Amino acid sequence: MNSPLRFDGRVVLVTGAGGGLGRAYALAFAERGALVVVNDLGGDFKGVGKGSAAADKVVEEIRRKGGKAVANYDSVEAGEKVVKTALDAFGRIDIVVNNAGILRDRSFARISDEDWDIIHRVHLRGSFQVTRAAWDHMKKQKFGRIIMTSSASGIYGNFGQANYSAAKLGLLGLANTLAIEGKKNNIHCNTIAPTAGSRMTQTVMPDDVLEALKPDYVAPLVLWLCHESCEENGGLFEVGAGWIGKLRWERSLGAIVRQKNQPMTPEAVKANWEKICDFENANKLRTIQESTGSLMEVLNKINSDGGVSTNHTSHAASSTATSGFDGAIGHKLPQFSSAYTELEAIMYALGVGASVKEPKDMKFIYEGDSDFSCLPTFGVIIAQKSIMGGGLAEIPGLSINLAKILHGEQYLELYKPLPRAGKLNCEAVVADVLDKGSGLVILMDVYSYSGKELICYNQFSIFVVGSGGIGGKRKSDKVKEAVAVPNRRPDAVLTDTTSLNQAALYRLSGDWNPLHIDPNFASLGGFNRPILHGLCTFGFSARHVLQRFADNDVSRFKAIKVRFAKPVYPGQTLQTEMWKEGNRIHFQTKTQETGDIVISNAYVDLVPTSDVLAKTPSQGGDLQSTLVFEEIGRRLKDVGHEVVKQVKAVFEWHITKGGDTAAKWTIDLKNATGEVYQGPAKGSADVTITLSDEDFMDVVLGKLDPQKAFFSGKLKARGNIMLSQKLQMILKDYAKL
Ligand code: NAI
Repeated sequence: MNSPLRFDGRVVLVTGAGGGLGRAYALAFAERGALVVVNDLGGDFKGVGKGSAAADKVVEEIRRKGGKAVANYDSVEAGEKVVKTALDAFGRIDIVVNNAGILRDRSFARISDEDWDIIHRVHLRGSFQVTRAAWDHMKKQKFGRIIMTSSASGIYGNFGQANYSAAKLGLLGLANTLAIEGKKNNIHCNTIAPTAGSRMTQTVMPDDVLEALKPDYVAPLVLWLCHESCEENGGLFEVGAGWIGKLRWERSLGAIVRQKNQPMTPEAVKANWEKICDFENANKLRTIQESTGSLMEVLNKINSDGGVSTNHTSHAASSTATSGFDGAIGHKLPQFSSAYTELEAIMYALGVGASVKEPKDMKFIYEGDSDFSCLPTFGVIIAQKSIMGGGLAEIPGLSINLAKILHGEQYLELYKPLPRAGKLNCEAVVADVLDKGSGLVILMDVYSYSGKELICYNQFSIFVVGSGGIGGKRKSDKVKEAVAVPNRRPDAVLTDTTSLNQAALYRLSGDWNPLHIDPNFASLGGFNRPILHGLCTFGFSARHVLQRFADNDVSRFKAIKVRFAKPVYPGQTLQTEMWKEGNRIHFQTKTQETGDIVISNAYVDLVPTSDVLAKTPSQGGDLQSTLVFEEIGRRLKDVGHEVVKQVKAVFEWHITKGGDTAAKWTIDLKNATGEVYQGPAKGSADVTITLSDEDFMDVVLGKLDPQKAFFSGKLKARGNIMLSQKLQMILKDYAKL
């Protein structure tokens, strides 16, 4: 048996408690230990007259039974006075049941101004006045329970009750917003639409029915909703005769009836009418964000697809998983490729905060840097097309509202450093679908290949809000699990202030969602202003780890896992807290301004330094260019002093293979009799030249003109570029094999 729900010490105000439903509530609360204010104006059911007898009688009844109660005879329109009685008598106010009411039934055309106004004054304005008077007290004590009394007449309409229906549904609107505003202070507001025999209903119901519909069959719901242990907030309930049901809104999937750059016409509305009104697979929306969020999706869809033709199906407003996930799991998205050059790699690095302010960042933002590298987390950009561009909406067995998806977690693993430029082919597969109750989690695995070689693997965890609870499994061995950070002070903390333009810059890397730049979209999504991309914060954090624990050496990066916890606004300062545990760097990221954790349970796995050394290219052994350099070295032995006189420069070569630097060579034609050796220049190089092993060979074999190679971007030269013209001579004369 559950323990009884008690209200000891709670101060409860019930308006209109001199009879009918209000009396039943007052008695029931008092019986369970509450201190009750019995308010009643004491007039007739049309709101005519007043008196103290009704309230006094109920107070008397409560006291007789050993309870505590005081009377108040003011109209609810004087809310302050009503609440003052509670404060004066008991020193606080915990619970308000807005119940007082009257009727002025007339068919619509015959409603006088007075009939309209008094109904609104007593029901809607009265509930507002009383609740407002109690609100601040509830806020301060961080507890409050409020009941609004609506009516089936408001929900469904009822002949002869236009004034009453309007006011009664107005109360629901009031309650909906109070539920939102009160939530953070533990003030809950719920609405009931009761049916009970009372003097109000005695003219419309036969006696035996009146008798059967006792107010006592409504009161227990009110008590439960007002109990401190009840978490219900913003609910609407029909209640009577011992039955209780909850109501909610339903919205059809609807139809998009407009195309990009085309006028919207009434004919298109007519053509789609059946679909607009079709409630099959309808949405059950709970928040304004859900409602407006789907409009965002509509706008996105119209803007990106050029609009949905009037005959097409819209995925925009659907949200529920229709069946099991069998068709979804293992579903492969169409293959796609991601090509990029240094431009994209640099734009990304700038987007995640790499800066000329930090000399060690130059390698990420200057293509001429001798160690130019693509940030490892660029790997998510390569794969991100899988979750954009509508692929999620095409997964069989799932019907996903794209407006309701959140990027929950991210895992990225690199099998070798990303090439500085390249084209990777990507295969995306739905690895699993989990039912978390409050939503579904879709695990999207994306494998990116250069030719046949697997370069990186991503797992996107996409949370689909509100589509869960259909009995699917909760766990999967496919999940790359997030890991809690150690319970000690961080070993290192790095901070970076994002710029106001951070999201505007980051989106150039391919996530064009207007949520990150357009204030109107942001407010549709429920944000004060555009928010930063979660993957942008992810990039900042990974950079911090790489900088602090791997000296920005991209070959040390193995994998990263993060959980996105809260949004970040551009301009906020990101603070990455890091813990080193072997080769795993645990981290979490906070916004310094609020202290909120925005990325949680995250880690970066580093390749142990010993492995990196082992993996360093075998000193160019498998490169064709190696032979050439060795040959140049041999020939220089004879004629070195002559050449040194002519050239007077040190050339450093970066020979790439598959986009990575595979070997470095130095041709020293400046010092003594010249020298060719493997590795970077011992002193400083006058020119640094980067080109692939293949292109190097083409240059040597005369198939590729070095100048043309330079202008086409195949050959990169840094330093005294004019000197490189002398190369042609060296290569021609000394490299003939
Ligand atoms: P009732 O007439 O027995 O109780 C209403 C009480 O409110 C009366 O005692 C009356 O004196 C008091 N009152 C009226 N104007 C007031 C004012 N300005 N200030 C303070 N007190 C005032 O009626 P019943 O049936 O108990 O209704 C309670 C509430 O439930 C009302 O809001 C009514 O609209 C609502 N309701 C009742 C239904 C039913 O089947 N009984 C159906 C739907 C809604």
